[in-house]
Amino acid sequence: MFIVPATADRLKRLGISGLRFLEETGSTNDDALAWAEQGAADGSLVVADTQTRGRGRLDRRWVTSPGSALALSLILLPSLVETTQAGLFAGLGAVAVAEALEQGWALKPQIKWPNDVLLGGEKTCGILAEAVWSGSQLQAVVLGIGVNIAPLSVPSQETLSFPATCIEAAAGRTVERQEVLERIVERLFFWRRALGSAEFLDAWNRRLAFRGEVVQIVMPGYNITGEVIEVDPAGGLRLRRSDGNEETVLAGDVHLRPAENGR
Ligand code: BTN
Repeated sequence: MFIVPATADRLKRLGISGLRFLEETGSTNDDALAWAEQGAADGSLVVADTQTRGRGRLDRRWVTSPGSALALSLILLPSLVETTQAGLFAGLGAVAVAEALEQGWALKPQIKWPNDVLLGGEKTCGILAEAVWSGSQLQAVVLGIGVNIAPLSVPSQETLSFPATCIEAAAGRTVERQEVLERIVERLFFWRRALGSAEFLDAWNRRLAFRGEVVQIVMPGYNITGEVIEVDPAGGLRLRRSDGNEETVLAGDVHLRPAENGR
């Protein structure tokens, strides 16, 4: 049990309206999606110590081992303006995590578009933003965030498509999960108020990994190579192609060009 009553009180003061803490669950995103369907209030939060069926982007598996990681899913009921900003929620999570790590542990995270947080070029956090629709109306966003805290949370490198690390390895000391949780929640609510603003976009772009480098964006069905320029106001990634033309991609996985370093 890492959510002690004092942590729960502080989370409520930060803006969390309802809190479900589970020692073990399949996926906190599945729990939050079900809770949202049942009428959860804006700012409801699911946190688990262990996930047995944690999900990542593109149907990947996300492992959350007991006692070593943070798995949380925040339910946001979008305002009218936010219903037009669906492409920014993953970035909201990434900026919040990055700033939490800077402010709490003086680390220098980078954001690998669209939504991974890297430390020393290795992934320490993944974000899965999922939407609940009613027809064409965006009803809720579930912002799922998985953070590797202690070394036990890092899956063996041969099972990964991108190298991974954890906060403790980067900070060189023990890190309390509840402190990471509180700092992330505080930053999430802070940046939510400025979602879509020039300040928010700047906070994202300042930490954008591979800026000025040539990357490949890989998605089932397409594959684009270009130099990373920046994230655009809708959350897409602007690239410069080798012919000088610009292109904005809205989804995909970023890889450094294989010829450059094999990642
Ligand atoms: C990714 O890197 O592809 C995204 C990983 C997202 C993992 C988090 S852990 C909390 C929440 N519950 C899930 O099942 N997934 C997200």
